[in-house]
Amino acid sequence: MSTASNTSTPARRKILVTSALPYANGAIHLGHMVEYIQTDIWVRFQKMRGHQCLYVCADDAHGTPIMLRAEREGITPEELIARVKKEHEADFAAFAIGFDNYHSTHSEENRELAESIYLRLKEAGHIAVRTIKQAYDPVKEMFLPDRFLKGECPRCGAKDQYGDNCEVCGATYSTAELKNPVSVVSGATPVEKESEHYFFKLPDFEAMLRDWTHGGHLQAEVANKLDEWFEAGLQEWDISRDAPYFGFRIPGTQDKYFYVWLDAPMGYFASFKNLCAHRDDLDFDEYTRPDSDTELYHFIGKDIIYFHALFWPAVLHGAGLRTPTAIFAHGFLTVNGQKMSKSRGTFINARAYLDHLNPEYLRYYFAAKLTSRIDDLDLSFDDFTARVNADLVGKMVNIASRCAGYISKKCDGLLSATCSEPELYQRFVDAGEQIAELYEKREFSHAMREIMALADVANQYIDEQKPWVLAKSEDSAQQAQDVYSTGLNLFRVLMTWLKPVLPAMAGQAQDFLNIGSMDWHDCDKPLTHHRIDRFKPLMTRVEQEKIDAMLAQTRSELAAHAAAEAAGEGGEAAEPGPLQADPISDTIGFDDFARIDLRIARIQKAEHVDGADKLLRLTLDLGGETRNVFAGIKSAYAPEDLEGKLTVMVANLAPRKMRFGVSEGMVLAAGPGGEALWILHPDDGAQPGMRVK
Ligand code: MSP
Ligand code: ZN
Repeated sequence: MSTASNTSTPARRKILVTSALPYANGAIHLGHMVEYIQTDIWVRFQKMRGHQCLYVCADDAHGTPIMLRAEREGITPEELIARVKKEHEADFAAFAIGFDNYHSTHSEENRELAESIYLRLKEAGHIAVRTIKQAYDPVKEMFLPDRFLKGECPRCGAKDQYGDNCEVCGATYSTAELKNPVSVVSGATPVEKESEHYFFKLPDFEAMLRDWTHGGHLQAEVANKLDEWFEAGLQEWDISRDAPYFGFRIPGTQDKYFYVWLDAPMGYFASFKNLCAHRDDLDFDEYTRPDSDTELYHFIGKDIIYFHALFWPAVLHGAGLRTPTAIFAHGFLTVNGQKMSKSRGTFINARAYLDHLNPEYLRYYFAAKLTSRIDDLDLSFDDFTARVNADLVGKMVNIASRCAGYISKKCDGLLSATCSEPELYQRFVDAGEQIAELYEKREFSHAMREIMALADVANQYIDEQKPWVLAKSEDSAQQAQDVYSTGLNLFRVLMTWLKPVLPAMAGQAQDFLNIGSMDWHDCDKPLTHHRIDRFKPLMTRVEQEKIDAMLAQTRSELAAHAAAEAAGEGGEAAEPGPLQADPISDTIGFDDFARIDLRIARIQKAEHVDGADKLLRLTLDLGGETRNVFAGIKSAYAPEDLEGKLTVMVANLAPRKMRFGVSEGMVLAAGPGGEALWILHPDDGAQPGMRVK
């Protein structure tokens, strides 16, 4: 199969596309956006080419972390996933991710699919049942996933390491080897307990998978990786979890649930099924039956290849459904050359970006970096600024802005009646096929280079013709109009090629060019004797101050998050896995330190907080201004010990929404914690509001 073979065939393809379903227990961050932007560009491109291309996604709503986080927040998992879904959808919409449907894995469609697929696998003999031993929290009365166990590393002895690997020395081990293990959930010492589990017999599918993984459905690097996994031997896959668990109960059992990763990929189909229910022109079976001639593509990150390239095709095949046409894996985002990190302040949420910067800058920047391979890609802010300013503002916007003024003012908005440079124009149109092929193959970076090279050609053409000189004399006014008209026509072609990447800018261009549509072949012929609308600036330069503000916001959000976690009353709970803070934090410069505004504050009021084990609510007088601050100090102070006394607070910390209200700063504390914790400042004449040096 070649995914590029269809670019020039006019036949209307039917394509179903997905991005991985983001977990419903955390915010969308810029790492995620690599994937959603990559997929969205590809889908928009297919739609512009006239194909039926449907893009579905959903929140991945099941699993232990979501269950525990809801519990900590004092809400039901259903309430939590409903709230997070709204946040995710708002972030995606702001980045112009054009899903045809966004659903949830916790949906009726998905329950039906999961049950029926499971039953089909069971009937065909692909499910095994076995008793296994697992770590169990006797206090919380639940089995503990590896990530919910902590202890000392069996190799280097580092404390506070997770159940399966050590972040200090990098060792990986089994949870049984962890020294002095404790449950992250309750702090109790776990015990071993037996339980019956359900397994999907992956080895039944070895022959089918060996074929499939070399059948042109995977990138070469990915197929090679899979060969290593075949070498290591395919294992049966544990698809059940014991109650309590947030998920779907396994039919025929009392207290066993489908493991989140079983029903997650089915969520792709559930979302599509939900879409089909709203659209008369779509037929679910046409896209999912084994002999379907529609295409199915899954865009995913390289960390979840195993699930998509082994389990998922095997499950589909075993259940008598179609397998994917291709899996498109991408690499991970690094920021300024390093893994995104909380301690370095580079774990940037989509929302923090959106609060300060134009989403299309990032869409373009990622497009300029993305290839069809699985290499990581780096977001370096200097490069980001330089790239966007040079290419989009300096080249693209420049063509339009230097041509539109004259046409509007001197020609009553009218373009010349004939195209003065038919060959040049044709050269631009002809480049469209190569650019389309690059989009099709997900070689976006190469496509952007081709487009920008043509933008240089357009600018050079205008430079050479010097229409501003021609415009000075009546005799050559027509030539000036011709050059400017050609410039705008070339701009239109390039904007068409860029539309999958920059839908908002293309929309504005469409408005000012006064054209009804901007599909791939609409620009085959130039606009002649055509009236344009008034030009409005299409995009402004990236400003360093905006980037600084976004990074400052990210740092204060992360600091508040870490502080809330340390106090055990986090608005957001610790996500297990790669979202954990790095063990070694970076130094900050003196300038960063100097920005921390430490002030003397008088504790006007100290109160217990309903439902919080560790927090007190403090009303702090800063000498004219009062602040509401939640502090995790209940283990050390009774409210009456505090009222009227002085403390030191960080006064310029961004307000932070917690479960119990908004916290407007932090008090400084010394000591190891528990009862040994001090926050009071001597009453030595210091006045509320005074700066602490
Ligand atoms: N819920 C699973 C996917 C289930 S699909 C049936 C999951 N969720 S996730 O929220 O952790 O990640 C969603 C997607 O974002 C994944 O494809 C993942 O690879 C991608 N990314 C998460 N962090 C990323 C980067 N730092 N860089 C690039 N992509 C990243 O996995
Ligand atoms: Zn270690």
